[in-house]
Amino acid sequence: MKLLNYFKKAQKEGWAIGQFNFTTDEQLKGIVAAAQKLNSPIILGTSEGESRFLGLEKIKALVDAFKEKSSVPIFLNLDHGQDLDYIKEAIKIGYDCVHFDGSNLSLEENIKLTKRIVKLVSKKSILVEGEVGIIGGSSQLHHQKAVIEKECLSSAFEAQRFVKETKANSLAVAIGNIHGVYQKMPKLDIERLKEIRQATDAILVLHGGSGLSQKEIKSAIKNGIVKININTELRLAWRENLEDILKKDKEEIKPYKILTPLSEKIQRVVEDKIKLFGSENKA
Ligand code: G3H
Ligand code: ZN
Repeated sequence: MKLLNYFKKAQKEGWAIGQFNFTTDEQLKGIVAAAQKLNSPIILGTSEGESRFLGLEKIKALVDAFKEKSSVPIFLNLDHGQDLDYIKEAIKIGYDCVHFDGSNLSLEENIKLTKRIVKLVSKKSILVEGEVGIIGGSSQLHHQKAVIEKECLSSAFEAQRFVKETKANSLAVAIGNIHGVYQKMPKLDIERLKEIRQATDAILVLHGGSGLSQKEIKSAIKNGIVKININTELRLAWRENLEDILKKDKEEIKPYKILTPLSEKIQRVVEDKIKLFGSENKA
């Protein structure tokens, strides 16, 4: 089944597909193992920075190798693409979807460039994710409370206009979500999400999924979120686990011995998210 059909099914049935970002093989191994174990469709995400680390071609080859051995649907998304030429490369290489992040542009410019990308993929079955409003932060650990200005939130009017004019398949919304994990996460503006859902049928995407409570996530899904992006929690699991392993065994130098437990730890984090998102047994 195509990704768009999974999105529509999830929208109809009230669950969400997770996008899990990665840069290394052991992260990828853990993410795919979780999806396989729970029989869940998944999206793998690489931001421009993450993509440049491995290179788009190597990413595609690596993901294809995992896909061959897996019985669950695995899709690949270029996350937070800002450079049009780089987005074009991802499309050429065979990414299943591309996210154009025009949130730092005026709405007019954002619409203009998103339309250009939609046109580029029009004859292929590649999906385009757009974004309105400003989702702040970065996929890091932050110690203070996140501050979100009201004017950064997506408005239902802008969301409707953006989707109508660009024909983007999905839309990343700013509803109080922010990238990273904070000591005290602000609450999601569910009323704003309801307004946006009423204004458009587009697939709604929640970025900054790390650090949100189970209650917030469930409420977001109940009110129309169909895709949720997770990065920071996976990065944290990777780093904390690596530190532990190196601290416990100061003699070990074999990378395959050091890195194996990292995949297992990441797998557990992804399994918890898949269960929370309700995508278990939806492959
Ligand atoms: O695009 C990536 C996600 O929005 C990740 O957000 O690092 O808060 O999980 P996160
Ligand atoms: Zn994001």
